[in-house]
Amino acid sequence: MRGLPATGKTLISQKVCRYLKWLGISTKIFNVGNYRRKLHGAHQLHNFFDPANPAGERSRREAAVEALNDMIYWFKKEQGVVALYDATNSTRSRRDMLLAACKKHDIQVMFIESVCEDEALVLHNIMSVKLSSPDYKDMDPEQAVEDFKARIVHYREAYETITEENLTYIKLINVGSQVIINHIQGYLQSRIVYYLMNLHIAPRSIFFSRHGESLYNVMGKLGGDSELSARGKQYAKSLPLLIATHLGSKQLTVWTSTMKRTIATAEHLTYPKLAWKALDELDAGVCDGMTYEEIEEQYPEDFANRDEDKFNYRYRGGESYRDVVLRLEPVIMELERQRNILIIGHQAILRCIYAYFMNHSHEKLPYIKIPLHTVIQLTPRAYTCEEKRYKVDIEAVDTHRPKPKAGGAKPTAEPIVETPVEAAVADPVERPVTDGDKDFGATITTTTMSTTTFKDSAFQ
Ligand code: ATP
Ligand code: F6P
Repeated sequence: MRGLPATGKTLISQKVCRYLKWLGISTKIFNVGNYRRKLHGAHQLHNFFDPANPAGERSRREAAVEALNDMIYWFKKEQGVVALYDATNSTRSRRDMLLAACKKHDIQVMFIESVCEDEALVLHNIMSVKLSSPDYKDMDPEQAVEDFKARIVHYREAYETITEENLTYIKLINVGSQVIINHIQGYLQSRIVYYLMNLHIAPRSIFFSRHGESLYNVMGKLGGDSELSARGKQYAKSLPLLIATHLGSKQLTVWTSTMKRTIATAEHLTYPKLAWKALDELDAGVCDGMTYEEIEEQYPEDFANRDEDKFNYRYRGGESYRDVVLRLEPVIMELERQRNILIIGHQAILRCIYAYFMNHSHEKLPYIKIPLHTVIQLTPRAYTCEEKRYKVDIEAVDTHRPKPKAGGAKPTAEPIVETPVEAAVADPVERPVTDGDKDFGATITTTTMSTTTFKDSAFQ
């Protein structure tokens, strides 16, 4: 990474890391700010960053070298594929140090530079993320803002933008309103460039809902292209009010799969709609149309293998979760580019997309709970993604099959009727029943679930 403080380097590193890990590429961030705090303490004021302060300069170089050594070790000993070396790397001499070390160890270098000329945005970034940094713990916020601004001035004095024609780089100017790319080589670098070109920081929410309960869900059968059950149709009728309540007057686009049950669930929504083949449910191959018990009986070995490694298990003639992640990659790219989107999808598909936003491992991904008749709203914040779940009070079967405990009791494969309000969720707030609700006999239960933080303390 390259760029002045508070220009989004850490956020960009985190996003690239999350994207590549989701695709199955071993990726890790080395944040030099964390090394600096570990080696020299958190409460360093702006003169520590003054290029005319030789002691500060030495200490910062020490932190940079330690992070670099750990990064090289990770490449060599832990078979790392992509490392994000997150620091300002603002001078030519620091850049040369990195290039020399990487060349020695046969590591290709691609610079990602963020240039932000919008002072109001930089101030906003300081207020929204830097004030809560350990660097400013217990400091008066106004004093902290002034100190951080002074830190930026020091960096600006020594800053040398990247121009060398022989180096590989992408320069994102003013959050990607202008992008300069140079000497990009190979598939991985071009994927990263394409990804970075799609990023934006405008506020928005992504809503997820599975289709309403289907006839196959009621029978406990997998896959197929069945119609909605009567309760599923009721859920479809409840969606317009629920979405309008939480979206307000903002614009929205609805994405569905090409299957009947998602299209029927979107039927009463009046927003623009798009049906994606890539959003069709995981293909269960020869097991399509069977129940879990039938699969266990007819393909016991396959059934056990799936329990052993659900992410990688590929149904005979069908797909694995890993396959689905790869086919969803264009959907993720488009989601990054878009503003408010509602995806009406399927259990496995929404698990994959949810895992991307919430940074869940491949191991956990196939067991994420995405219940029927529930809308999930994800709202990206600076380094976090806020999640809210709205459960509609229309019963539906539970299609979630938990991971069997090693040597323990078998999980039930019977469809279980869910009670309208889950016991495990916190403080549900019931919205009063309106006339609109009465049409389909539903109440909407609003439940705030969680905010996931993607970084511990990766401030510089
Ligand atoms: P530091 O050098 O102090 O570590 P940084 O460059 O890593 O700072 P971040 O901590 O990533 O900056 O700043 C996060 C903020 O930057 C968020 O509020 C985010 O919305 C904003 N941001 C993300 N991308 C960009 C961008 N391309 N340009 C400017 N700001 C951005
Ligand atoms: O049961 C509903 C369903 O969408 C099936 O069509 C699909 O095979 C299944 O969920 C995916 O969930 P799991 O991977 O847990 O079997």
